[in-house]
Amino acid sequence: MNNFSFANPVKIIFGKETIKEISKEIPAAAKVLVIYGGGSIKRNGVYNQVTDALKEHTFFEFSGIEANPHYETCMQAVALIKEKKCDFLLAVGGGSVVDATKFIAAAACFDGPDPWTMVAGKGKIEKAMPFGVVLTLSATGSEMNCGAVITKAETQDKLAFHSSLVYPKFSVLDPTTTFTLPPKQTSNGVIDTFVHVVEQYVTYPVNAMLQDMFAESILKVLVKEGPKALKQPKDYDVRANLMWASTWGLNEWIAQGVPQDWATHMIGHELTALYGLDHAQTLAIVLPGLLKVKKEQKGDKILQMGEQVFGINDNKPQAVLIENTIQAVEDFFEEMQVKTYLSDYGLGQEAVDAVANRISARGWMLGEHQDISGEVVREILKLRL
Ligand code: NZQ
Ligand code: ZN
Repeated sequence: MNNFSFANPVKIIFGKETIKEISKEIPAAAKVLVIYGGGSIKRNGVYNQVTDALKEHTFFEFSGIEANPHYETCMQAVALIKEKKCDFLLAVGGGSVVDATKFIAAAACFDGPDPWTMVAGKGKIEKAMPFGVVLTLSATGSEMNCGAVITKAETQDKLAFHSSLVYPKFSVLDPTTTFTLPPKQTSNGVIDTFVHVVEQYVTYPVNAMLQDMFAESILKVLVKEGPKALKQPKDYDVRANLMWASTWGLNEWIAQGVPQDWATHMIGHELTALYGLDHAQTLAIVLPGLLKVKKEQKGDKILQMGEQVFGINDNKPQAVLIENTIQAVEDFFEEMQVKTYLSDYGLGQEAVDAVANRISARGWMLGEHQDISGEVVREILKLRL
């Protein structure tokens, strides 16, 4: 196991009827900006629960955060914060709203000409506003981590940033809020979580037993409960297990002391930025291709996942077991009703070239060995035509 030093300060408030707890978590004198998306929270009663809980607080609202949140929209929220002199933010929604709130929290305190530089890597995040989260979609883990992904619509750049200054102060996880998710978003959430775990687990062995077994447990929960959530969307236990699994998928604990990959995500972000595919759709396309191209380097961990998660342990040559495990991953994505080929989304060779060329132009070398260049990306995506 590699060395590590880590603290995760996010307070989790989990369970039924817990949204009312936010009144105690937000300072009484705070001027709050409630940030949300396109209106799902108004249709499913979450908005009413939040505003009821805030009835003793002063609060304003900013709506219209889009999926794959835009820098341009976030900057409108920053202007409102300055106008109303808000000093606390509350994100109410899925990963896009939480990520947008993280960026807004930092941008409102940014002391420079261009806050986008915080995402593009040159501008340092020195300060951020405090914020809390009411989560309505289990997928990203953003509720318990310090990362966010923001898109600059003008240049079609979708980039991630991290700062320990943007951990939420608290996150309320009430699984009943996810009862109203459209099937597509339930599926997306399960696949996003699955791939988060794989990016931290299917690398090479460093004998980190606890991290590996945690990772395998999360994957097993997804394989067991994911299909159930599509059939029984209002089953509390299924939703609770998925919600907690997705938080653990990316609350940074299973990443400690182990190598990490993240190439599937970086390639996927380019597909979303260029063609508007959902985040999870891009991951479902890329991961099986990446595992195939990297099956030598990742062989030990692919075999381990096959045995521990999918029960693939028959007496066959290792090469066959590896192929069968990659097929099991692809089959699980299809079982969750997310398509796994570029052609399923009307994309062809032009998308392969566009994404590969972008990775080359960025000069990125991705993966746990930093050996996935634009040319390797081309090889991966060609398998997904
Ligand atoms: O906008 P509204 O009307 O709220 O509708 C949303 C949106 O259309 C809807 N929705 C959310 N909760 C609902 C609901 N509909 C009915 N009932 C509910 N309870 O679902 C749609 C998608 O929401 P979104 O927040 O975009 O989904 P998700 O949570 O999957 O977030 C995706 C974003 O997170 C980023 C992705 O790149 C993408 O931009 N990620 C963030 C990460 C992080 N911060 O650590 C890691 C991830 O890898 C991921 O990259
Ligand atoms: Zn993701």
